Amino acid sequence: MAAAGTHAFRGTFYHTPTYGQLEALRDVLVVIQDGKIARITNGDEEEAVQREYGLSEVRHLKDGQYFVPGFIDTHVHAPQYKFTGTGTDVPLMEWLRKYTFPAECSFQDLEAARHRYLLLVKRFLANGTTTAMYYGSLHLQPNLVLVDSIERLGQRAVVGKVNMDRHSPDNYIENTADGLRDAEKFVTYTMGKKCSRIQPCITPRFIPTCTPELMKGLAEIAQKYGCHIQSHISECCGEVNCVREMHPEYASDAAVFEEMGLLTSRTVMAHGTLLTDDDIRHLARRGTAVSHCPLSNFFLGDAFFKVNHALSLGLKVGLGTDVAGGISPSMLSAQRMAVVNSRCIRAHKLAVSGGTTVTPEMEKDVITFKEALWLATVGGAQALDMADIVGTFEVGKEFDALLVDTNLSGTSGPFDVFEGEDDDQRFEKFINLGDDRNLIEVYVQGVCVKRGDEFLLDGSNVTKSAEEDSDRVMSAPTPAEPETAYVDLAHRADSSDEAASLDVGAAAEDGAPAPESESEPPTKRLRY
Ligand code: GUN
Ligand code: FE
Repeated sequence: MAAAGTHAFRGTFYHTPTYGQLEALRDVLVVIQDGKIARITNGDEEEAVQREYGLSEVRHLKDGQYFVPGFIDTHVHAPQYKFTGTGTDVPLMEWLRKYTFPAECSFQDLEAARHRYLLLVKRFLANGTTTAMYYGSLHLQPNLVLVDSIERLGQRAVVGKVNMDRHSPDNYIENTADGLRDAEKFVTYTMGKKCSRIQPCITPRFIPTCTPELMKGLAEIAQKYGCHIQSHISECCGEVNCVREMHPEYASDAAVFEEMGLLTSRTVMAHGTLLTDDDIRHLARRGTAVSHCPLSNFFLGDAFFKVNHALSLGLKVGLGTDVAGGISPSMLSAQRMAVVNSRCIRAHKLAVSGGTTVTPEMEKDVITFKEALWLATVGGAQALDMADIVGTFEVGKEFDALLVDTNLSGTSGPFDVFEGEDDDQRFEKFINLGDDRNLIEVYVQGVCVKRGDEFLLDGSNVTKSAEEDSDRVMSAPTPAEPETAYVDLAHRADSSDEAASLDVGAAAEDGAPAPESESEPPTKRLRY
């Protein structure tokens, strides 16, 4: 008799244990026991392995079917899924005010939150995201709904309650003490589930909306419970200029976060397009990772994040969709955008050179689909401190995997395969052209959580849920407009440096904390 929860697959498994190298484990037999990979061996040892594990059958993959590790999205704003694909017309600080805060605030309607979050988690699982690092929203309750939804559908996740206690709309702000209390409540609620797939995360939104007191208090909670931490760092000019005006005594966002105690080996900072080399080296020393969100950076950012350069300085780098700053929930899309982003850097360097010679220096930022897949799996696992648990197919790791079917031709699939194309070409087509239709089964901890249109732990199917959602969306409250004080900050920070400085001055008069330089010598803050 097979031990409980033991099963086996025979076929081809693709993964990227080494950056830039795609390894194909061809005709292997993978035994999964209690969610973990117990054995990887040659397919022709099937009979012996079957006897050893008491397996009544071994599932053989069909030609053109492959396993790939589940994707790890290191930066998702769960409530922003509601408006993903819309609202791409304004810069970051205005985008937060105009679209983001109202949308997030509307999750106080818990019925709506419950339904939207089920749709969100289903959408991400369907697209192959077996692990996600989620930001929730400000209010405590909807975040508990998010955690429940993840638990119910079987996804792996690191989840945080967003904290923000300054420069935010009146209806979407908390006072410092409440924020710290609710952050701790969220941590204990999530840990109390004792669900090994779900971990809580401390989530100061970003420096402009978090007082030093809040950030330091959150760092203490993270330390007390050994939590992950997530925030946004050096994302775009509007944000960076705003922080420089608010905290002139610090050399950079990284210096602020360092002083607050928020740079740890379990911290993931999103974007980082404007990090200096010194900042990157410092994050690397702390073991802090950056979530590279190429699609979002094209819309809300002003600069390119250079993956190869950051890795060469020792930084941990994962990949993120940044829904809704990024307009796609798909990590396949994120991988393609990472490749395009790298090629834009090359094109930019050539344009700056004014010449027609592509030098090796211009080439060194270019990444291929293989590096992108590494970022979406191994890089993400490293960023989330899960490199010994997921990211590749190795004995002892948990089986988070996607069964890819490249046999869907014509209108039933996103691409066609032609005679003479081998497995490697079919797999490359999947990474570059594939979509959720190719992901016929999704596994987390060895459990099939989605097969075809069915979410197996939920018992519902996609079509039915979509119909239900339309009713709930109709009944959701209309988001209120945020307060004028914040509007000014957003507008000015994005408009010009001069205006940003005027505004931050005004905000300080309005009761925001004065720059720290009054109490601390500036030289201290310039060092890490
Ligand atoms: N900075 C602060 N909040 C956000 C957010 O929700 N999305 C992005 N992209 N950047 C942010
Ligand atoms: Fe973000």
